[in-house]
Amino acid sequence: MQVLSMKHKERLAAYANRIEEELSHFLPLEGLPQQEVMEAMRYSALGGGKRLRGAFVLEFCRISGGSVEAALPYACAIEMIHAYSLIHDDLPCMDDDELRRGKPCCHKVYGEATALLAGDGLLNRAFETALSEEAVDRVGEARALRLSRELAGAAGYYGMIGGQCIDLAYDGRVPDRATLDRLIALKTGALIRVACRMGCIAAGAEAAQITAADTFAAKLGQAFQIRDDMLDVEGDTVTLGKAVHADEKQGKSTYPALLGMETCRAEVARLTEEANAALSAFSDTAFLEDLALALVTRMN
Ligand code: IPE
Ligand code: IPE
Ligand code: MG
Ligand code: MG
Ligand code: MG
Repeated sequence: MQVLSMKHKERLAAYANRIEEELSHFLPLEGLPQQEVMEAMRYSALGGGKRLRGAFVLEFCRISGGSVEAALPYACAIEMIHAYSLIHDDLPCMDDDELRRGKPCCHKVYGEATALLAGDGLLNRAFETALSEEAVDRVGEARALRLSRELAGAAGYYGMIGGQCIDLAYDGRVPDRATLDRLIALKTGALIRVACRMGCIAAGAEAAQITAADTFAAKLGQAFQIRDDMLDVEGDTVTLGKAVHADEKQGKSTYPALLGMETCRAEVARLTEEANAALSAFSDTAFLEDLALALVTRMN
């Protein structure tokens, strides 16, 4: 099994720790009457998750010549949007799940109404963060505006939300390959792509590098979701921190259902190789290459 080498594992852990600290800073628990919704926001945004999208923001900023600290508010913003997408994804009206990141889903602890509002709260807070004085001071107004615009697009109807709509529309029937690819490019690919793009933009990278980061992310995003679908079949709940065999029960559109596990395995390997090839536009990419390879065989 390919695992992140120690040095790289340490870098991912360091990124995750910094993101956790800053997320806590941007989600302060104030003594407001509506404190429960902030508790629910913190419950879902803090203390778990691989922080993959946030780490991509930071690492692409670093390899584009920028500072990790400058990109941090954007790493937090994407992790807030990701956490919101998971809260809503788990609701009974969507995937109806009970376990997320090894603990009960937000709606299981706080109830559906508060979970819905906590998701909304995180979405809005992501843009407050991206446009905060703190963030603008670090990257300048022009970049803050572009970063926020790209993030809004990727999270919205033409991105993640659009993908979730197609996902729901195909419940109970198997789409063709082109439709499934489109579904995944939106529901999962859009946020991973914008994470990599934002890192470059925060550093003021040239257009060719942003395009290369985008290609890397699009390929990796697809491989990532194929692996996620595979883990629903062959993973275990304790390691994964979420239910297994849930997709089959719900009749979700997945790659294993369409292609079978062996083809999935080959597709993940092919896409990861193609993703890593796109990194030739940058130097100092060993961490990203290693991370991409580790995702192929990830068990959580
Ligand atoms: C889960 O994403 C949702 C998918 C797009 C498959 P992750 O597997 O990155 O979730 P966390 O953040 O590590 O919990
Ligand atoms: C979720 O995809 C993608 C988003 C939340 C946008 P899944 O429904 O496959 O994710 P898991 O398996 O619940 O994490
Ligand atoms: Mg889903
Ligand atoms: Mg789900
Ligand atoms: Mg899944």
